[in-house]
Amino acid sequence: MKEIASSDYSIWIGENSLSKLDVSGYSKIAILVDENTKRDCLHKLPKFNDFIIIEIKSGEEHKNITTCNFIWEELTNNHFERNSLLINLGGGVIGDMGGFCASTYKRGIDFIQIPTTLLAMVDASIGGKLGIDFNGLKNQIGLFNNPKSVLVNPKFLKTLHDNKLKSGFAEVVKHALISDNNLWEELTSTPFDILDWGAIILTSIQIKNNIILSDPFEKKNRKKLNFGHTFGHAIESYYLEKGTPILHGEAVYMGMILETELSPIPKEDKNEIKNYILSNFTLAHTPKKSNLLPFLMNDKKNVQGKINFSLLNEIGDCSIDNLFSINEL
Ligand SMILES: NC(=O)c1ccc[n+]([C@@H]2O[C@H](COP(=O)([O-])OP(=O)(O)OC[C@H]3O[C@@H](n4cnc5c(N)ncnc54)[C@H](O)[C@@H]3O)[C@@H](O)[C@H]2O)c1
Repeated sequence: MKEIASSDYSIWIGENSLSKLDVSGYSKIAILVDENTKRDCLHKLPKFNDFIIIEIKSGEEHKNITTCNFIWEELTNNHFERNSLLINLGGGVIGDMGGFCASTYKRGIDFIQIPTTLLAMVDASIGGKLGIDFNGLKNQIGLFNNPKSVLVNPKFLKTLHDNKLKSGFAEVVKHALISDNNLWEELTSTPFDILDWGAIILTSIQIKNNIILSDPFEKKNRKKLNFGHTFGHAIESYYLEKGTPILHGEAVYMGMILETELSPIPKEDKNEIKNYILSNFTLAHTPKKSNLLPFLMNDKKNVQGKINFSLLNEIGDCSIDNLFSINEL
């Protein structure tokens, strides 16, 4: 088991990480699950007495204020006090929403993140961003707040659908491209099916954690994590509006290919990145740029009408605040 120190909490990673689940001293404990993590993950937690289970429906469409009302009601009806604990057992939806509910209930109770998807392990549970969707806008309401700890156990991935695993893997690929050439070499030289998940998750978390420690509130360095996500979000929104949603990771893979094209790196590196993604992951048809423009023009990161990209300087290094006008794309 490895410990990574973040700002004021630890991230424990490995097959024994759940032994670090410390529930001592709390007056009440709740475990937040959805139907899938209740079935596949709950029995893997260490046994302890006196907790309640709060079960919500799985899926992004339930990451909203109605579900929060239900969670706050459960806490209230069960007389949870300030000195209570919420354990979030699930993917990014449970982590983001459970963390948000815990941080706002009675002005904040402790919470622990136990991510059960690859995306939540290497991305969503790291960095303290919490929130819910509102009026069709993703993560519109939320805050930054840190958990007491994050416990990452790759064992949970055994029950995760292959398409979700590959989708979450987009963030691992991104971490390699923006910050770690050695990780990129490892990914590209090892068949996907025999990757050493323990080692890859550890390296990937270290990359995200280091970036976050250098810039917790996304003023500078943290923007590197947006590589692939400007086009990626536009593609995701395009398919959502069409009524044929695609997985987040699928959109990010396409976004990384397009943003690699914009990056000032040699042609052979561009081809290497594109070939690796296309030969390992099945992607939807990339929409025409004209179809993406309305979404790009509304991107939160835009500056004076220009689209703001994080681009590769080379494989393993990234620059921020590259501004392009619509005509330049
Ligand atoms: N806070 C952040 O910094 C951050 C970063 C990236 C993404 N996010 C958020 O994360 C969310 C997406 O997270 P996600 O991809 O984990 O999706 P998710 O939470 O919806 O989980 C995907 C599905 O997998 C199921 N599941 C979870 N763990 C399982 C397991 N071990 N076995 C079987 N089934 C399992 C869930 O029930 C769900 O149906 C989005 O809402 C996104 O906004 C947040």
